[in-house]
Amino acid sequence: MIAIIGSGKVGSAIAFLCGSSGLDNIILVNRSEKKAIGEALDISNAIPASSSISISGSSDYSKIKDSDVIVIAASLKAHMQSRSEIMLDQAILIRKIGKEIATHAPDAKILMVTNPVDVLTYVIQKESKLASKNVLGVAASLDSSRFRYQLSREFATNQSKITDAIVMGEHDDSMVPIFSYAKFDGKPVSELLSAEQKSRITTEVRNYWKCLRDYKGNSVFGIAKNTFDLVKCIIKNETTNLPASVLLGGQYGLSGVCVGVPLTVNNGGVVQINQLEITENEKNSLHQSASNVKNNISKVMEFLKTN
Ligand SMILES: NC(=O)c1ccc[n+]([C@@H]2O[C@H](COP(=O)([O-])OP(=O)(O)OC[C@H]3O[C@@H](n4cnc5c(N)ncnc54)[C@H](OP(=O)(O)O)[C@@H]3O)[C@@H](O)[C@H]2O)c1
Repeated sequence: MIAIIGSGKVGSAIAFLCGSSGLDNIILVNRSEKKAIGEALDISNAIPASSSISISGSSDYSKIKDSDVIVIAASLKAHMQSRSEIMLDQAILIRKIGKEIATHAPDAKILMVTNPVDVLTYVIQKESKLASKNVLGVAASLDSSRFRYQLSREFATNQSKITDAIVMGEHDDSMVPIFSYAKFDGKPVSELLSAEQKSRITTEVRNYWKCLRDYKGNSVFGIAKNTFDLVKCIIKNETTNLPASVLLGGQYGLSGVCVGVPLTVNNGGVVQINQLEITENEKNSLHQSASNVKNNISKVMEFLKTN
């Protein structure tokens, strides 16, 4: 069973993809029960006729019992200027959800979507007490899609010609597009791009969400599809390589922090954290990015002690 906590724009889009593909039974949990029930009623009509799954909505966390995957897309409000702007209040919300998961579904895999995603992946892992291999933050695969898109524009090609476009680090202003791995038509892009082009593309990937916000608001379909891919690989036990945020224990010289790194994932959670041979510059940028997340984790954990 798939539980999706938060039936807003993102949670309901993820539910639509899971339901319309007949992936598994779905429970939507939302603060306002009416919204969860409404989305479930709507998505019920998108389930394939040949599928035996069902979807329901509730505000009762006990309904997440027996979930294999729990997606967290609950949020107090949308951020406008920075993903960290309501970090402390979001941390209180996520701590509460973490306790509910510890009580009702301690064997589930958690996929954190709520921002700031890296910090909240850390908080939910601590609060739910689930093994770190079972707690992932979804964002680096979305950022990697954005990197692939920007590279395809730079080379005036279609996205299928770009491979191995990976973004690591924080899902925020310090994220690190890994140029040393990306390829255009099989050729390393680092040999084809100038330093000025790389710097501009890095800024475009980091600021993609701001451009999106100005046109339509925060991402819905992009994050929904990237989250659905992870849900599917866990439910179907399809071993998949993709980047996501996870608690590190020495990989890339980092520990005690969650940031986006390349992973191998299946229904056992994270099978492996894949260590790419990135350049010295990329490694330094990754360390700077992780240090930003660590600072925010310290602020949040300190705040939670007294709130
Ligand atoms: N990781 C990424 O790359 C990425 C990309 C895009 C968005 N996001 C994040 O995803 C989150 C959701 O975005 P959205 O656009 O879907 O926001 P939204 O439309 O405002 O939805 C948030 C939902 O959370 C619900 N909620 C609030 N507190 C809750 C609680 N205690 N228990 C259960 N549900 C609760 C709200 O319920 P009510 O109906 O009662 O208000 C609302 O339905 C945000 O944090 C956003 O920044 C992340």
